[in-house]
Amino acid sequence: MSILRDPTPLSPLGLLRWYREAGVDEAIAEQPVNRFLPAPSIALLSQTSEPAVVLTTQPAVASPKPSSAHQAMACSSLAELKAAMEAYDGCALKNSCQRMVFADGNPEAAVMVIGEAPGADEDRLGLPFVGVSGQLLDRMLASIGLDRASAYITNVVPWRPPGNRKPEPGETEICLPFIQRHIELIDPTVLILLGGAAASALLARQAPISRLRGHWADYSSSRLPRPVPAMPTYHPAYLLRTPGHKREAWRDFLAVRKRLDGLTPT
Ligand code: URA
Repeated sequence: MSILRDPTPLSPLGLLRWYREAGVDEAIAEQPVNRFLPAPSIALLSQTSEPAVVLTTQPAVASPKPSSAHQAMACSSLAELKAAMEAYDGCALKNSCQRMVFADGNPEAAVMVIGEAPGADEDRLGLPFVGVSGQLLDRMLASIGLDRASAYITNVVPWRPPGNRKPEPGETEICLPFIQRHIELIDPTVLILLGGAAASALLARQAPISRLRGHWADYSSSRLPRPVPAMPTYHPAYLLRTPGHKREAWRDFLAVRKRLDGLTPT
């Protein structure tokens, strides 16, 4: 690595160069965090005549925080769900993203589209699927006569993972009750699950998306009046990388159209 040849590898410029070569391309917070400071465990009182300085501390026995599941179940409207998610601080992704991405589109729509997690554009604008993969999604929806006024779009994870990495299984698990309640509140006629992460999380199936796609599956919940037919398909970001699979995704969308039209599902 060229840092070994750099005469001033520890200079700020050398360090930045090293970060860039190691693939670090963004900072995840506005303010630096001094991680060398010891975590305060007791209130520190000044021993001088200065006013006492009290550092806020974690109580020795933290009162249990309500889980995401408890918070989600208590919500009886989309507005309540959004507020509960905004107030929830049990998912570390919230600390590194700019804002929560809740949903876009028509809550009364028959079709609910669910992706994986916001990317950089979504994090900046606060809306799902507004970057390049969102533009492809819009074209896929248009191919079956839908748009954001006739579909409702959201993600399993509402906070952007740093560097657009995949959400960790633990992060998805924490967010799952929120998206489950979201589906119950929308109560769609049909679900479209974009990509393996959304399909696996919501259908509790571990098979690759190449196996799941194109096959209707039931999304069930005791709080839904009936199981919702769900169509897993390829994620638009994957289709941008491997356009050869667009033909299959198009077939999946046509199956959704037929279902909406009341025809026999393929
Ligand atoms: N990819 C997703 O899964 N969701 C978005 O909102 C954007 C990109």
